[in-house]
This record gives sequence, structure tokens and C-alpha cells, in this order.
Amino acid sequence: YGNNLFIDTKIEMNPVQDVDSLESFRESICNCQKCSLGNTRANFVFGVGNPHADIVFVGEAPGKKEDLIGEPFVGRAGKLLDKILEAIDLTREDIYICNVLKCRPPQNRDPLPNEVDLCEPYLKTQLLMINPKLIVALGRVSACTILKTKEPLKNLRNRIFQYEGIDLLVTYHPAALLRNPNFKKPAWEDFQLIRDKYLIQN
Ligand code: URA
Repeated sequence: YGNNLFIDTKIEMNPVQDVDSLESFRESICNCQKCSLGNTRANFVFGVGNPHADIVFVGEAPGKKEDLIGEPFVGRAGKLLDKILEAIDLTREDIYICNVLKCRPPQNRDPLPNEVDLCEPYLKTQLLMINPKLIVALGRVSACTILKTKEPLKNLRNRIFQYEGIDLLVTYHPAALLRNPNFKKPAWEDFQLIRDKYLIQN
């Protein structure tokens, strides 16, 4: 399936801003068997949303429902994410959502380092193709795997990082907000920052 087709060639690749190429990239990797999650997944969960999005949200990995449906953030955490997006006047059609891992780890365990190593090139290519203004890493696992750090999430918030030359902000995972409502206020501050810095055109 030409899994490696895009991976080593990103320097030559322009941000294509093109639905067809993102879709053909998906087709080229959706039967991936590079790690053992290929044996246990129901569906490969590539990502959904606007291929021209200014903002891409990156979660950790598909959960049970995402695995069954083949779309990211369709469970409870996803519903909360939709509400937060609505509060800053965004819908799913405005943004793009994907995960670091494209396949569900059994029992939703944390991604293993080798799974991240094998899957992250897909994320990189996807982000370079979409070429957003901002990447938002949702939660510690997403942030720490993307940024290659072990810092606690609270140290990563309120800072602008760069990933492949694109601004990156870190905020709580919506599932964490469901578990701990105390995180809702700081998360709302993060989303207001996103709105004020990346959505309001001056
Ligand atoms: N949690 C994630 O990190 N990603 C999903 O797609 C769903 C839940």
C-alpha cells in the first residue's frame, strides 16, 4: 500500500491544501499493519474535518466508539469538545480533528513508544498537508508525545510551541474535563486564548 510513500518526501511536498490529496494519503495508509494495533482495530481512524482548517485538534488515540465508527471524538469527550467549539463559534466543519495514533490501543491503554514512532509520521504528513495556523494538542499524552517531553500538562499550557513550523498550544483533554470539573475554568481560558489569538481577525 505504499505506506512509506509520503513519509520520507515531506521536504519536497508543498502544503497542497487539497481535499483529494489528503484523501489519497488516507487511502494509502488506511490498511497499515506497521504495529500490532493493525490486528485489533475495527477501523483505522484517520481524521475528519476541513482540509483547509486554520486549527487542527490532535487527541491521543481512538477510543471504543471511534474505533467502531472510524471517526475521532464521537464519544462523550467528543460531545463536550463540540460544545466547547460552539462556545468559540466553531463547528466541526471549520476545524480538523485527528489523533496521534490512528488505531485504538486495546482497553484504551496509553500508546506505546514504538506505536508512536511508527504512527507519528502519518500525523506529520497530515499536518503538513493541511498546513493550519495552529495545532491544539488535547491532553498530556498528545502533548507529551508530540513535544517529546515529560513535563506535566500544567507546565505546557499558556505557551506557544512549534511543531514542524506550526504554532502549537496545549490544553486539557475533554475526557479530563468530564472526570474533573475543576479543569473546566482553565480549559475555557485556553479556548478563549485560541479564539482571541487565532480566530478574531484584526
Ligand atoms: N479520545 C481521544 O484522544 N481521541 C479520540 O478520538 C476520542 C477520545
